[in-house]
Amino acid sequence: MVWPNEDYLKLPGSYLFSTVARKQREFSAAHPEAKIIRLSIGDVTQPLAPAIIEALHKAVDEMASAETFKGYAPDLGYEFLRNVVSEKDYKARGCDIAPDEIFISDGAKGDCGNIQEIFARDCKVAVCDPVYPVYVDTNVMAGRTGTYDEKTGTWSDVIYMPCTAENGFAPELPKTVPDLIYLCFPNNPTGATITKDQLQVWVDYANKEGAVIIYDAAYEAYISEENVPHSIYECEGARECAIEIHSFSKNAGFTGVRLGYTVIPKDLKAGNVALHALWARRHGTKYNGAPYIIQKAGEAVYTPEGQAQLKEQVAYYMKNAQTIREGLAAAGYTVSGGVNAPYIWLRTPKDMTSWEFFDHLLEKANVVGTPGSGFGPSGEHYFRLTAFGSCENTVEAIERIKKM
Ligand code: MLT
Repeated sequence: MVWPNEDYLKLPGSYLFSTVARKQREFSAAHPEAKIIRLSIGDVTQPLAPAIIEALHKAVDEMASAETFKGYAPDLGYEFLRNVVSEKDYKARGCDIAPDEIFISDGAKGDCGNIQEIFARDCKVAVCDPVYPVYVDTNVMAGRTGTYDEKTGTWSDVIYMPCTAENGFAPELPKTVPDLIYLCFPNNPTGATITKDQLQVWVDYANKEGAVIIYDAAYEAYISEENVPHSIYECEGARECAIEIHSFSKNAGFTGVRLGYTVIPKDLKAGNVALHALWARRHGTKYNGAPYIIQKAGEAVYTPEGQAQLKEQVAYYMKNAQTIREGLAAAGYTVSGGVNAPYIWLRTPKDMTSWEFFDHLLEKANVVGTPGSGFGPSGEHYFRLTAFGSCENTVEAIERIKKM
């Protein structure tokens, strides 16, 4: 007799973005005439930059000839990509990260979800609240989170670090000491950031307590202000306490292409065990690498043409962020984020719950966003809009919201 993994059965409801998509589909079916604008999931809408398309075409042609054909990729990823990541994302910023500390993957979501596997089952996990649901749900699947309290929307064995308007949506050091700390800056979903000095406090804390920080840097390309760190390794001592996860989805539009990487410095240990060796073992056993074609596309991200084209793409989305932020503020909403991140976090009007506002916005403006409470209890009465729509749709969505 076979039994399912009971930890999976503990997960409440469906994945947040699947629920949002289902509600949108149901509304569309009931109102086929409605022109729905989707500002919910952080999925890009602009086509891949020309430098990336060119690299893809070239790599496809290489696969057509026996001399240049590539089979399985190396375990950690191709050296050409790890070298350029090490140079451009780290050494150029004064961070000491070697190519062989970089693991290329098919995206940050998988790495964010899988990284917990190399830690003990009884590790105590701390997350920001609200939080990207993948960090919590994957720890639920691993049996690390205890029991779920439907009333509070919290897990008994998870340490929640509230990020509220009062603390500027920046977490405070937790009262109970965690083993694993998930941080994401610029933040999803609030769009908030912390300064390098604030991040240094977390690095010092983790080193003092023997904790590991899992730092999700998926949105670093959207940083526009000085003194906001692009990498946790800008902080002293981070090599001893931090893992960093990067995506090519948001900076280069790879949501449908799939590419990411995770950095595990060789100095990082749990007990006396080097976590680099454990992740390498996992990678080698469970993963056959991101495709050569896609890694060549990733390399093109770092060419001068690629960099210039992607700077324009990020600017395009950040113009949308400005449209949303300023438009909503002018309409009387309380808004934050959207300055160093492609997410705008707004307080729901008239004390509506996040899901009430979701329905209201869908019905009255035919605009889909993401309810803040889906990211955690402190997200209740908040709502997230993304800047990843087209410029025309973003302008129209804000016009419609203003008229509501
Ligand atoms: C989001 O909307 O929060 C993100 O797009 C989800 C993701 O990157 O997986």
